[in-house]
Amino acid sequence: MRSVQNKHIAGRLHVCITFCGIYEKDFGTEYCVALLIVSFKLKQSRNKMVAGRLALVTGAASGIGKATCRLLAHKGATLVAADRNPEGIAHLIKELNMTAHGDQKHTGVSIDVSDDESVRNALLKVLEHHNQPPSIIINNAGITRDNFLLSLSETDFDDVLSVNLKGTFLVTQTFCNSIVNHGIKIASVVNLASIIGKYGNMGQSNYAASKAGVEALTKTTAKELGRLGIRCNAVLPGFVDTPMTQAVPDKVKNKFMPLIPMGRFASPEEIAEVIAFLASEKSSYVNGASIDVTGGF
Ligand code: NAI
Repeated sequence: MRSVQNKHIAGRLHVCITFCGIYEKDFGTEYCVALLIVSFKLKQSRNKMVAGRLALVTGAASGIGKATCRLLAHKGATLVAADRNPEGIAHLIKELNMTAHGDQKHTGVSIDVSDDESVRNALLKVLEHHNQPPSIIINNAGITRDNFLLSLSETDFDDVLSVNLKGTFLVTQTFCNSIVNHGIKIASVVNLASIIGKYGNMGQSNYAASKAGVEALTKTTAKELGRLGIRCNAVLPGFVDTPMTQAVPDKVKNKFMPLIPMGRFASPEEIAEVIAFLASEKSSYVNGASIDVTGGF
């Protein structure tokens, strides 16, 4: 993979130097040096991508998680797709491995992020397959159990907090301990929070509380782990067209639509682009940030 990229860059340099030869006559040496600097920066920028890195995505079998796996794989990362839906994972891994290139060998792992033992087993499987922990962790698994506050059951409150908030904590703690123990010096954790965690939403007191918690957890993780080379950031989507929102009745969706200046829901791919940016070293000085991706909502 790397050699393919280096060839690509070497090719560009060759073209650049040839151009320099041509341009030197007309524009002089300073112009040629500037061109070479641009070319060098291009090379640096490619090195900041996710190619060659191992990435864990939870909730990978659907929606935003699936789109993120596809994008990171396309950018050259090796994926560990984790979900509590084994069929969905098997399907995705088959698809990803059909278009894999170079050293990429994507794997799937069954996980319930709300269960400590399941998270630890997932890490053991990853270490067995890849001999190292992922240096990119995308905490994306999430659920909703909507109801108005006065009717919300304790179980529905606990379930949402367990998956969305405790799950993010368990995966981050377990995998980041392994990152530190393996002496990995550059790593990135991206947490899926939500704009609802900032503003609240009718019928989603449990979900809003869980996502506000994810944002606070993100900022604290960033403060504690930044010195170890592990950055941690949150993405706050607005409304995204995935199975999670497909379950929302049309009359509720129609109420929100006028409040979105872009006049539409996001596609999962649009959220994946922001996740990939935060995962990569292109965001090397972004730490503890929350990025709204809401179409202006
Ligand atoms: P989705 O429902 O399409 O996919 C969620 C995935 O998480 C599923 O594959 C499911 O099997 C998995 N999952 C659920 N519980 C799990 C557990 N305990 N352990 C492992 N995997 C589990 O959801 P979507 O829309 O792709 O959402 C992804 C993330 O983005 C969630 O955290 C969600 O809260 C967040 N988000 C989504 C928005 C939207 O409008 N769709 C808006 C804001 C945030």
